[in-house]
Amino acid sequence: MDFWAEQAQRLHWDVRWSEVLDWSGAPYAKWFTGGRLNVARNCVDRHVEAGFGDQVAIHWVGEPGDSRDITYAQLRDEVCRAANALVSLGVRAGDRVAIQLPMIPEAIVAMLACARLGAPHSVVFGGFSPSALRSRVDDAEAKVVITADGQYRRGKAVPVKAGVDEALAGSAVEKVVVVRRTGTPVSMGERDVWWHELVDPQPTEHTAEAFDSEHPLFILYTSGTTGKPKGILHTSGGYLTQVAYTHAAVFDHRPGEDVYWCTADIGWITGHSYIVYGPLANRATQVVYEGTPNTPHEGRHWEIIQRYGVSIYYTAPTLIRTFMKWGEDIPARYDLSSLRVLGSVGEPINPEAWRWYREHIGAGKAPIVDTWWQTETGAIMIAPSPGSAEFKPGSAQTPVPGISAVVVDDAGKEVAPGESGYLVLDQPWPSMLRGVWGDDARFRETYWSRFAGAYFAGDGARYDADGDIWLLGRVDDVMNVSGHRISTAEVESALVSHPAVAEAAVVGAADPTTGQGIVAFVIPRGVAEVSVQELREHVAREIGPIAKPRQIMVVPELPKTRSGKIMRRLLRDVAENREIGDVTTLADSSVMAHLKAGVSSQR
Ligand code: PRX
Repeated sequence: MDFWAEQAQRLHWDVRWSEVLDWSGAPYAKWFTGGRLNVARNCVDRHVEAGFGDQVAIHWVGEPGDSRDITYAQLRDEVCRAANALVSLGVRAGDRVAIQLPMIPEAIVAMLACARLGAPHSVVFGGFSPSALRSRVDDAEAKVVITADGQYRRGKAVPVKAGVDEALAGSAVEKVVVVRRTGTPVSMGERDVWWHELVDPQPTEHTAEAFDSEHPLFILYTSGTTGKPKGILHTSGGYLTQVAYTHAAVFDHRPGEDVYWCTADIGWITGHSYIVYGPLANRATQVVYEGTPNTPHEGRHWEIIQRYGVSIYYTAPTLIRTFMKWGEDIPARYDLSSLRVLGSVGEPINPEAWRWYREHIGAGKAPIVDTWWQTETGAIMIAPSPGSAEFKPGSAQTPVPGISAVVVDDAGKEVAPGESGYLVLDQPWPSMLRGVWGDDARFRETYWSRFAGAYFAGDGARYDADGDIWLLGRVDDVMNVSGHRISTAEVESALVSHPAVAEAAVVGAADPTTGQGIVAFVIPRGVAEVSVQELREHVAREIGPIAKPRQIMVVPELPKTRSGKIMRRLLRDVAENREIGDVTTLADSSVMAHLKAGVSSQR
């Protein structure tokens, strides 16, 4: 515990904690009990007070080529204005605020303004559909929604507010604040207010209240094994301690020297922990980029690295594989010599991508920290140290100091080197989730019922002969597509909500670029013609474009066990074009023959 008490010193506490960890209410942990702090003050004001007001916090780069440098002093002013603005709308500590914004400075300002007021934010990824936004807004009972008129996507302005209007029709949301980003025409209703009209005139003075260490900081929805996303709850003191500690230790971040860039979107946990809270708590100077990596050309990231002298670059394997496809001659045209640490997150990084990253981006020498963690863990849990003697392409290697992780078999017994099992976290950690919003039973059932007293991560893993950990992917019905978690059940329920579909089964099939691709098998309803293209669009409308199946196959039947459970393992064999595995538990073993015959006619 001394270890975490020491890490907590990275923060400014208005009132020091009395106890580092109270685990008496397990699986609900309390960290730094009795301590009080303000998260936004820790991320912004205290750096200004310490004399770093003129240091750039954010080098923001817009997709169309506009840019803004925001210093810590300017960021403080903006956050205070936005906090005052939210107060004027009636937002109080404990109220929930939903945010659906592109990667613009206002997104970070809005999150910090909520944190400053103790109003938990729920950021919803910009690519989610209106109905996905609505279900999240309703589940968290958000009082205010912050969004934009539109966003730039691959060189085009696309509407955002129109989708939010559709999402919120008839909802209990009181106010919608709209940032003007693209100039896309929008209709402003009675509860709508422009960000610039509301925020700009506000005073830059705002006294930050110190909240309890366990005060809720945010809710972030993630896919589970059922159709309904889970609202993962994170709190203040422990979360900020671990994101600050890991951002400093895993990336060897040096404030005032490094230029850091994490390419995630704030709609995901990586954006929360390693764009907003960790780096800002550590007084980082960071790049925030609004757009896609190939707009207007495929060298955009390398051009940005060269322009700002980025020294730490944190991205996802799916993007590295995309860069590989575009060709190594593209990064070769830029000066990337400022890079000294590279990071990877989201899925196991395949050794080929690891080597390419090291060779063509890291000049053959930059350490690559492969970081394993989850929305639920809040912060990095397993990663090699950047000063490690030996990197192993494809292995996240060891739990970071302070963290304990073990690989166990079905019975909960630690496995021997070389054998695979389940990854569990057998000790509480400061940034651990504090439950599933409004669903205690689901929290206990999903994470704490499988192995007594330990957190079940849902990932397979094994040790090698040196005791290093290799992650093997999900062991549940959660797919990992381009580093995004999508549940098979969610896509299935979107498919069966279409009138032409009687039944659907979805599997994640290996994909050379995205890690996994979504493959759906659907049984049509009646004799109606089913348009596969229409179904793909339907899923995009229901969930968002990220959930669009790569392939949909129309089949007469699905393989089921005698108890009616769909055998996804067999469907995966079909989707990956493999020999079909053991079919003895099928209720009707002829199903696979029919299915294969039908599928091969569609290939
Ligand atoms: O399966 C693991 C995979 O991503 C899951 C967590 O997804 P999410 O909550 O969306 O958070 C992603 C960003 C932290 C994990 O259960 N995963 C993430 N990072 C790695 C990984 N698998 C292997 N190696 C990684 N470095």
